[in-house]
Amino acid sequence: MAPMSLLQVEGLTKRFSGLTAVDDINITVADKEFLGIVGPNGAGKTTLFSLISGQLPPTHGRIVFDGVDITGWPADKVASAGLVRTFQLMRPFESMTALENVAVASHHRFRSRRDARRHALAVIERVQLDRYVNAPAGSLPTAGLKRLELARALALEPKLLLLDEVLAGLVPADRAPMIELLGDLHADGLTVLFIEHIMAAVLALSERLLVMHEGAQLALGNPHEMTQDRAVVEAYLGEDYA
Ligand SMILES: Nc1ncnc2c1ncn2[C@@H]1O[C@H](COP(=O)(O)OP(=O)(O)O)[C@@H](O)[C@H]1O
Ligand SMILES: [Mg+2]
Repeated sequence: MAPMSLLQVEGLTKRFSGLTAVDDINITVADKEFLGIVGPNGAGKTTLFSLISGQLPPTHGRIVFDGVDITGWPADKVASAGLVRTFQLMRPFESMTALENVAVASHHRFRSRRDARRHALAVIERVQLDRYVNAPAGSLPTAGLKRLELARALALEPKLLLLDEVLAGLVPADRAPMIELLGDLHADGLTVLFIEHIMAAVLALSERLLVMHEGAQLALGNPHEMTQDRAVVEAYLGEDYA
């Protein structure tokens, strides 16, 4: 039996007046796959996530998640189906504790306050935020905020998680533990789409790599082979990678 695909994106396109931000993207993501997405600023990566997760309606194309056509579904319904994204800009409820922030998300899965709190605590432990459990979210350091953002997404119990630059703003010393955590979540069976600029992280985690350029799909394939591909290196990896 062929491996089951969890997500199929067909001809996905988004135009903003004159600009084609996402231009005919076609990808199939297998269940439990970790797909890296790279491309220069403005390549359309974040817009692609907004389309897949229902924050924006596509101009053209189709999105099939877990066998169901979800094209045009609102974001909350998409999230309930198990497709959850993080945002590039972190925005927790700053005066609420880390636990309360996560419990808000857990409430989507558990009706009682008590069950939601218990679930949120387990998620907090999973992302190793234990020591900030009762700290106001606004007081967390950047590395803690990144984990909190991840915890809020995980509390929705996604099958497919879309991560948009979760390593951005972390000092190098804080990156390795976060990369390890993402690898563990993947090993536990989570399917991940991973937008990231830091190539070491992309290469450490990704089973396949999608390279975007001016909205379009420049390349899709084995990450290590791709770093040898001249067109890819010139269009994106360029001097940063050389
Ligand atoms: N809501 C919007 N309205 C108009 N243009 C947008 C909007 N969102 C993104 N864009 C444009 O679409 C292009 C792709 O942006 P984005 O998806 O954020 O790229 P990336 O995440 O790869 O840096 C950019 O040119 C950006 O200015
Ligand atoms: Mg972006």
